This record gives sequence, structure tokens and C-alpha cells, in this order.
Amino acid sequence: MRYEEQLKATATAMVAPGKGLLAADESSPTIAKRFESVGLENSEESRRAYRQLLITADGIEEFVSGIILYDETLRQTSDDGQPFVNVLKGRGIIPGIKVDKGAKNLALHPGEKVTEGLDGLRERLKEYATLGAGFAKWRAVITIDGDQVPSDACIQVNAQALARYAALAQEAGIVAVIEPEVLLDGNHAIDHCYKITARTLDAVFAQIKEQDVLLKGLILKTSMVLSGKNAAGRADVDTVAQQTVKCLKEHVPPSLAGVVFLSGGQSELEATAHLDAMNKIGGLPWPLSFSYSRAIQNPVLQLWSQGKKDRALAAYLHRAEANSLAAKGQWSEEFERTKAY
Ligand code: 13P
Repeated sequence: MRYEEQLKATATAMVAPGKGLLAADESSPTIAKRFESVGLENSEESRRAYRQLLITADGIEEFVSGIILYDETLRQTSDDGQPFVNVLKGRGIIPGIKVDKGAKNLALHPGEKVTEGLDGLRERLKEYATLGAGFAKWRAVITIDGDQVPSDACIQVNAQALARYAALAQEAGIVAVIEPEVLLDGNHAIDHCYKITARTLDAVFAQIKEQDVLLKGLILKTSMVLSGKNAAGRADVDTVAQQTVKCLKEHVPPSLAGVVFLSGGQSELEATAHLDAMNKIGGLPWPLSFSYSRAIQNPVLQLWSQGKKDRALAAYLHRAEANSLAAKGQWSEEFERTKAY
């Protein structure tokens, strides 16, 4: 494969010890929701100003190997006119790009989604490579609802699209982050989430194999194995860690470059504690790290919206450091007490 060495090197750097990804690639509708929730005006300039904090924070490169951007941000510049991409690269942070066009209703399958964006993707990836993106992300959404949802159809079409995207990204010399997200919504028990996650991962990696995607140049961004958000008696941190590690070990090929997690609506502390507990278990064939959006950004955005820029920055560095420690299995609740923001 043309870019094999480059893909391996980039993927390895993305999950270097104690480093993870920041997801700052909220689409236009998603960032509108986030800004609205804290009463912030939503304009191109307000989005640029906020994301500038995430991109230019001094010292963030110690904890974060890459930042996933939305198309708009990839093309924006800092206050002093430097392209954000150059600011990141200057610090040794790899710019990433969300390339899917969002999860749309799956025809004939009420309540289920299929991610679109394959049309024209080869050309878009070529441009993103020229603009300096080192990796890309594609998110698929799997809903849990009773015994019938997800359907096999939903899992299969999303798995096939994830692999088609991954192949196109690798062809362009861009590392693919494949994100099949099993949603937290629902009142299902953790065992049910385990089964659905296993079924999803099996389908995804069957397609990845079928389409000859290079595992060493590929990162899995997955949800954790959790009880549904509204379940009675939700599983505790140790159970989540054990079940997630077991599921990944049994359903993810060992030669993959790395596994990172989305936070998916967990609180900041839950997301950090779960990652830490998994790394304390250890003995995994790939690095396990983070690729959080809300579990890093929630307190940052809150403080930013109140005009507290210094505290927003402190919160950002704090959550990034906490997750960096968790990626090494070295976080403790004590860390939260000693360095509050
Ligand atoms: P959350 O961590 O907020 O789930 O976002 C991660 C992400 O990138 C979703 O695509």
C-alpha cells in the first residue's frame, strides 16, 4: 500500500503513551445546540474564538496527540492570522477532520440511522490531505431499543460504510478513525449493551477485513459497555471496565493500532474513571485512550460562556491531564481534589 509507513507512524503517534484525542468536530447543528445550552451566540466568529482556546492552549500538547476538527475550523485562522492547522502542527499535534455527513434516518427502519457522506469522499479526502489533515473520523450510530433494534440491516449498512470510508482515507494517506457508537440512551442492562457492542464490532471488523483496510493504520473509536442511561441499578466503574475490556479483547483484532473512547453523555468524572480502571486492568494488545468531546469540553464551554477565560483554560488543561493519567492507569480521585478548576 502506497502510504503504509506514513499511516502506521501517524496512527502510532495518535495513541502514544499518555496521549489521546480531543474531539472538537461538532457539526453545525451540534455546536448550535451546545452553544444554545450555555446561552452563547452562535456565529462563525464565536465558534472560531471558542475553538481557538482549544487549539492554542499552551501545554495541551503534553496530553493531546490530535484534535478532530470540523471543516469550518480546518480552514480558519488564529487571531494573529495563522492557520489553525499550522498552529497545531507547530506544536506536534495532528490535525484531524470529521468527514461523515451525519447520521440520517435509515429507510424502512424507524428509529435507526445510517451515516451518509461517501459520495465525493475521495475528492474531499484529497483536499483534506493537502490542507494538512493527518487523520479523519466517521461516526456511525447504533440505537438500542428492545429486542428488534438494532436490526441486522442497520449494523450491516453502517459497518460497510465505515470500511468504505476507512479504505478511501488510507488510499489518501490519512489515518481512519472508525467510530461505531452504541448509544447510551435507554433502560437496558449492561449485558444487553455488551451483546450489541460485540455484534457491532464483529460486523465492522468483518467489513474492514473484507475491504483490505490496514489494521496498523486504523484506530477504533468506540463506546464503552455501559448500562443504559435510564437503567435501574447501573453498573459500577469496575464492572464497566471489566465488561468493556472483555468485549474489546474478544471482538477487536489485536493488530489494530489503537482504541480510543467517546464519552457519549457520561459525566466528566465517569469518563475519566472508566478509562483509568480499564488501563489499571491492563494486559491489552493495543493502547486504550480517549477521544472525548463533552467529557472534556463541558466545563470549558460553561466557563467560557460566563466570560471566565482563564478558568476555562484551566478546566481544559485539567480534564486533558486527568484523561492522560487515565490513559496510563495513573489517575486517582485525589488528582481531582488537588487541582480543582
Ligand atoms: P462525546 O465524547 O461527546 O461523545 O463526543 C465524541 C465524538 O466525537 C462523537 O462523534
